[in-house]
Amino acid sequence: MVRHFLEVDDLTPAELATVLDMASHPATDLVLARRGVALLFEKPSARTRHSMEIATIELGGHPLYVRPEEVGLDTRESVEDVARVLMGYHAVIAARVFEHNKLERMAAVSSVPVVNLLSDDAHPIQVLADLLTIRQQVGRLDGVTVAYIGDANNMARSLAIGLSMCGARLRVAYPEGYGFSEAALARLAAADADVEATTDPAEAATGADVLYTDAWYSMGQEAEMVTRRRDFAGFQVDNALMSAAAPDAIFMHCLPAHRGDEASDEVLDGPRSVIFPQAHNRLHSARGLLEFLVRAAGNAS
Ligand code: CP
Ligand code: NVA
Repeated sequence: MVRHFLEVDDLTPAELATVLDMASHPATDLVLARRGVALLFEKPSARTRHSMEIATIELGGHPLYVRPEEVGLDTRESVEDVARVLMGYHAVIAARVFEHNKLERMAAVSSVPVVNLLSDDAHPIQVLADLLTIRQQVGRLDGVTVAYIGDANNMARSLAIGLSMCGARLRVAYPEGYGFSEAALARLAAADADVEATTDPAEAATGADVLYTDAWYSMGQEAEMVTRRRDFAGFQVDNALMSAAAPDAIFMHCLPAHRGDEASDEVLDGPRSVIFPQAHNRLHSARGLLEFLVRAAGNAS
């Protein structure tokens, strides 16, 4: 059975540890030599596109980027037909989509691994880099407490699942009305994810090893910017909130940051911020994941 990566728990905890270990070393083998990786984007990207392209090259492969206007999933042709065609050319099909279900539909018909590069529901490939960064910066994952301040969105869901798989836990603080959806709660329960929720950012931050935040309005929610800025007032990660965390706590953000909204410049650029090592780890974790999936597909065939 080919392995897909639509959410962090598509890996077992042991496989997740293996991917993080692979990400910690340069590529040992050109497992993608003379093979392609399709990168379909329905939304913009900097980190994800670049890290996936370079990771593919590091493994000896050829990345092929498909622009949002070219993707045409279910408009130019069906999601299933796109997957059935691309799997004849590429070793991996990776996609950034609005509806998570499009990834599930691709995975249902694809004979090559399908990778989630972000959907409205989940952002698991970011979490691989986040776990690697916490392991490097805090020195461990087991027993680590991460306080996520902001919107209980795709990022928060995948982070909760990934942290739980490593013996860490997530506290989420969000304004009333911006908690996890019923579907997300059901998915978190299915993953047995350890999440505490509050509407008090200081309560979540108190004693935490990591403060993490993400945009108050995600890609596709730009029309809600004004409302969300009003509703999230008081949820900015600033120096005052950082001071509630553990004395050596680090600050993380998946980026892109809306500076002055979810985090202040003093925190983003401050001594505890690891946002750029975190962003650079996207390359290493993407390479680790691709290597794992391609090897697994090779073993399965
Ligand atoms: N964090 C992240 O996925 O960044 P991009 O949207 O720039 O890819
Ligand atoms: N929650 C954000 C993450 C961006 C990497 C979004 O979906 O736009």
